[in-house]
Amino acid sequence: METNLKQWIEVDAFLTKQLVNEDANLEYVKQNSMINDLPSIEVSPLQGKLLSIFVRMIQAKRVLEIGTLAGYSTLWMAESIGRTGKVVTLEVSKMYSEIARQNFKFAGLEDVIDVLEGPAIESLENLCAMNIEPFDLIFIDADKKNNPIYFERALKLIRDGGIVIADNVVRNGEVCDPLSDDLSAQGVRDFVSAMGKNSKITATAIQTVGSKGWDGFSIAIVSK
Ligand code: SAH
Ligand code: DHB
Ligand code: MG
Repeated sequence: METNLKQWIEVDAFLTKQLVNEDANLEYVKQNSMINDLPSIEVSPLQGKLLSIFVRMIQAKRVLEIGTLAGYSTLWMAESIGRTGKVVTLEVSKMYSEIARQNFKFAGLEDVIDVLEGPAIESLENLCAMNIEPFDLIFIDADKKNNPIYFERALKLIRDGGIVIADNVVRNGEVCDPLSDDLSAQGVRDFVSAMGKNSKITATAIQTVGSKGWDGFSIAIVSK
């Protein structure tokens, strides 16, 4: 399987070159990540642009992201949401949160994006307790073992007809191995299965190959 990785990377590079123009703000995120030795586990440029297209397709005004890292995917969405929109993003690492805030300031979007530092489960509890205005789109991309609980909380925080997207639901195929002892694989497997069993969810999932290997994302519409 991985013998095709070279071709996937070439095709990803071609599509990215033709279709994606990363602006100076997105480039800054990558440079700042490199300088500070952050892991390169952000979405690919093509996926980042897909997130921004979803934001525009539904004219989202409020987005919630679980898992910020340096804010690469956050910025893709925030740049499409407009000045009156809001992106709330949750990050457990103090260092990553600080770097992300620097990056949002560089982009001039510090008023559009709120970084909530701390374990996402706690931040989600707080958002639920605050009775916060519901979100149009929620992007789940943190520690995959907790995906089932993030999904449950997302259902509380999403508006009727809102969209829930999750990254990394295929994990090199591990999602379909019921015997996998990997907690992340179990997390995405239980998450996908919970979506399938929920009559209020219309969901699908797409496998992807590219510069980040073999993975995939799910997308769901929630009827409340
Ligand atoms: N969405 C980002 C990538 C996120 S990587 C992008 O595409 O640009 C996953 C992030 O989730 C990491 O920064 C990690 O620190 C964070 N994370 C892991 N466990 C978490 C938790 N329990 N609560 C909040 N964030 C968590
Ligand atoms: C990891 C997390 C991600 O969100 C991703 O896209 C790739 C890898 C990780 O934690 O290893
Ligand atoms: Mg991811």
